[in-house]
Amino acid sequence: MNNKVTVIGAGRMGSALATVLFHKGFATTVWNRTGAKTKVLSRLGLTVAHSVEESVREADIAVVSVSDYSSTRQLLRQPDIETALRGKIVVQLSSGTPKEAREMDSWARRCGISYLDGAILGSPEWIGTPACTIFYSGPADVFNRAKPVLMVFGDRTVFVGHEIGHASAFDVAVLTFGVSAMLGFLQGQVVRDSSLQVAASQRS
Ligand SMILES: NC(=O)c1ccc[n+]([C@@H]2O[C@H](COP(=O)([O-])OP(=O)(O)OC[C@H]3O[C@@H](n4cnc5c(N)ncnc54)[C@H](OP(=O)(O)O)[C@@H]3O)[C@@H](O)[C@H]2O)c1
Repeated sequence: MNNKVTVIGAGRMGSALATVLFHKGFATTVWNRTGAKTKVLSRLGLTVAHSVEESVREADIAVVSVSDYSSTRQLLRQPDIETALRGKIVVQLSSGTPKEAREMDSWARRCGISYLDGAILGSPEWIGTPACTIFYSGPADVFNRAKPVLMVFGDRTVFVGHEIGHASAFDVAVLTFGVSAMLGFLQGQVVRDSSLQVAASQRS
């Protein structure tokens, strides 16, 4: 059973992830570089760890939500953390590129850590709601082991395959589609407005 979860990073997204886990009954620990940001979570009843090593020691799954992969590397690539994480699952939910996902995966394999790479399509307010889509890539058996935890984050929990860079690549594809659709919509509005202006000037 993967019931003990630690969330590394209590920014806007990490706090939202930790809060829904806690409300769904998972034993949830949280760690953040700036301790003051964990006060609200502590008042809710979550366990606050004083170091990354302490946060992962008892956990079955470590969910990472910090600014980027470079921060993740700084936090996790330390002998005591690598030892504490051996045999456990790390789920990366910080934004990054497919190349960074592959680098994290190589590191995890060397350390005997099971690794999933994720990409969140939505804002912190959406976490734990039907609106939240999150893509995951990595080994299918690891995804299935982590699934009871991951399902808590959103109804649209989508496994996109074993190629570790695919979650990030799909994320970029969806964002590109969204931006293109928005630009197309705005262009349509401009054309419509100018047509209306021409029609109005012809009438007057
Ligand atoms: N917010 C969104 O709408 C959204 C949506 C999809 C994906 N994401 C992704 O989720 C991740 C977190 O976003 P967020 O909104 O939570 O950002 P945020 O509120 O700015 O929080 C950033 C977090 O990263 C930590 N951090 C940054 N550099 C660090 C370092 N070197 N060592 C340790 N901790 C470090 C910060 O710790 P401190 O508190 O100590 O500074 C904080 O916990 C990002 O990768 C973001 O792209 C966010």
